[in-house]
Amino acid sequence: MLGNFVYSNPTTLYFGEEAKKNLAEALKGFGKRVLLTYGGGSIKRNGIYDDVVSVLKDAGKEIVELSGVMPNPTLEKVQEGSEIVRANNIDLILAVGGGSTVDYAKAVSVTAGYDGDAWQRYWVEQADLEPSQKLTPIGVVLTMAGTGSEMNGGSVITNHDKKLKIGRGFPDEVSPRFAVMNPRYTFTVPQRQMVAGIFDTMSHIMEQYFSGDDDSTSDYIAEGLMRSLIHSSRVAIKNPEDYEARSNIMWTATWGISSIVGSGKPQDWEVHMIGHAIGAYTNATHGFTLSAVSPTYYRHMTYNETKRFARFAQVVWGINPDGKTEKQLALEGIDALASWIDEIGAANNLSSLGVTEDMFDGIADATIIAGNGYKRLDRDELISILRESM
Ligand code: NZQ
Ligand code: ZN
Repeated sequence: MLGNFVYSNPTTLYFGEEAKKNLAEALKGFGKRVLLTYGGGSIKRNGIYDDVVSVLKDAGKEIVELSGVMPNPTLEKVQEGSEIVRANNIDLILAVGGGSTVDYAKAVSVTAGYDGDAWQRYWVEQADLEPSQKLTPIGVVLTMAGTGSEMNGGSVITNHDKKLKIGRGFPDEVSPRFAVMNPRYTFTVPQRQMVAGIFDTMSHIMEQYFSGDDDSTSDYIAEGLMRSLIHSSRVAIKNPEDYEARSNIMWTATWGISSIVGSGKPQDWEVHMIGHAIGAYTNATHGFTLSAVSPTYYRHMTYNETKRFARFAQVVWGINPDGKTEKQLALEGIDALASWIDEIGAANNLSSLGVTEDMFDGIADATIIAGNGYKRLDRDELISILRESM
């Protein structure tokens, strides 16, 4: 490993089936007033809400509820939540849901504790936390695997007026203090959302893996996670209630975007930048905005780099290298990725997400070009990738 890095992890994870007992343990040490925030109501239908409320009541907490957090949470909803936190003197924000609800909790915490325009400062300008910034601690009961938001400082917010979907990584103080992770809670996730979460995880790992060229332990960890994910995806698609597969998917998702896979790596994240811009224009499901462009994007990367992609083909997909050039092998690995996208039923083109050619310029304008991958995109190449992904 040649890169320099800092690794820390402020989140305590409680993993396994005893979610109620784990939540009761996790709540110790936080104040009385809990903002219970969740999405569109799936937790009421599958019993998770009842589990959580009974634990909160037994612990003597006062509950303020904030529901209706939408997939791809919006700035308006963040503003609503931050008013509620301010008005109720909240001690803990408990996010019960997937990445949208967890990202939302972070945005509410930051916005409620900042006197200025938090969206402008933290998302548009990507500035550091203001020294006077106050924060409300966050706890998580995770109901869907994919984003890894349960153990990182990431928060992705959509501003529909400006047609912007912007993510940022906050420092450890904003990360959840704890996450209760019961794989059984994910059994009721609709299949297409499960698949979107699986591809999101795969993409997080690839964004970090396809960068740099030193011999790095991080890449060996990444390969193991990808192999586990591919295997478990096949099991879970046949039987969504296979606990072993769902638990592996949940755990892989958490590690896929925790800083361990990226430690010492330049990290690309360009597929996510394109995916977020597509999301701002279409409100499409996050994981599918990534699956629809990934094979095309990576084929473009092989114009500059083939060694890492050839290794991906062999180690992750088990492709026999005999008699093949490095470039052929690299492309076969990307073909295997594309076949897996079809096999699991993730989106394989942008048209199906509602993208039309007249959006290309706007999507290109909204895409941040970070330039940390194997090839820095210019605008023309970005538009070619969009066109080839239709
Ligand atoms: O709203 P409810 O009723 O909860 O339904 C949700 C939602 O409709 C449903 N769902 C979740 N758990 C369920 C369930 N349905 C039945 N049973 C359950 N147990 O699934 C739908 C999708 O939920 P959502 O939270 O939107 O999905 P996901 O976890 O994929 O989160 C997506 C958001 O996270 C951001 C994305 O951009 C997007 O806004 N990301 C956050 C990241 C981070 N913090 O590091 C990184 C990612 O790259 C990503 O950008
Ligand atoms: Zn993602």
